[in-house]
Amino acid sequence: MEIITTPEAVKKRCKELKKQGKTIALVPTMGYLHAGHLSLIKKARELADIVVVSRFVNPTQFAPNEDLDAYPNDPNHDRTVTEKAGTDILFEPPAGAMYHKDHATWVEVPSLAQGLCGVTRPTHFRGVCTVVTKLFNLIHPDFACFGEKDYQQLTIIRRMVRDLNVDVEIIGCPLIREEDGLAMSSRNAYLTKEERALVPHIRKGLLALQEKAKQGEYSAKNLQDFFARYIKENIPMARIDYCNMVDKDSLEPLETLKDKAVVAAAVYVGKARLLDNILITK
Ligand code: PAF
Repeated sequence: MEIITTPEAVKKRCKELKKQGKTIALVPTMGYLHAGHLSLIKKARELADIVVVSRFVNPTQFAPNEDLDAYPNDPNHDRTVTEKAGTDILFEPPAGAMYHKDHATWVEVPSLAQGLCGVTRPTHFRGVCTVVTKLFNLIHPDFACFGEKDYQQLTIIRRMVRDLNVDVEIIGCPLIREEDGLAMSSRNAYLTKEERALVPHIRKGLLALQEKAKQGEYSAKNLQDFFARYIKENIPMARIDYCNMVDKDSLEPLETLKDKAVVAAAVYVGKARLLDNILITK
């Protein structure tokens, strides 16, 4: 596995590979890799000749009050597991190498970024779209793999690529869970033992909500209230950021379940803010 640390060098190397007729699949990450990331690398391995994994904790997607400085980091572990998973190039630029001091250009998809996570993280997706665009411009991947855990992020990136005619195929990959149902996330590392024991209830609450919908409860408000009660009873220290029923493509909030919808939730537990989502059908 080649480790490349500068934007210029990764651009040059990927250009050479493309000239040789190789296809490239990119897996963008912020490191502290878990089985969810490895499933993205596995998918990328199936799709293309060359797998590039980027490992960069992107400062522009964190607000000043957020966990940029505390974000978990284990470079040696990441290097070992990416290599084992069949990565060809690990791109890990140091903080600062990706943005000029006077960086002034942003990519945003405001209509999709305002709801859900965008309410409490209003500048988050602008940072994500900008860094992902920069990675696309450096690497020119044929495919880029993103997890469905970050459902809003995946939807926004698909729209950005469509709207800007970016020549890359976005591959959405299934959310990977721990055995007890907790959605895998690097931020699970923030949980105490006591919190960790209770957080699988986020998934259980969404499954119970799905069951309610199957039984004929189609009102978003009633389903959201049901989830809130479930979380209050089962994770007393939790605070729900949001639990919203939205259209699966436009992310528009829905009042009533018509056919299919996504219910997306973000729940604060201790220092962690945990995301999960579920597809519900009538
Ligand atoms: O999902 C993430 O880890 C990040 O938002 C991404 C896509 C790597 C951009 O920094």
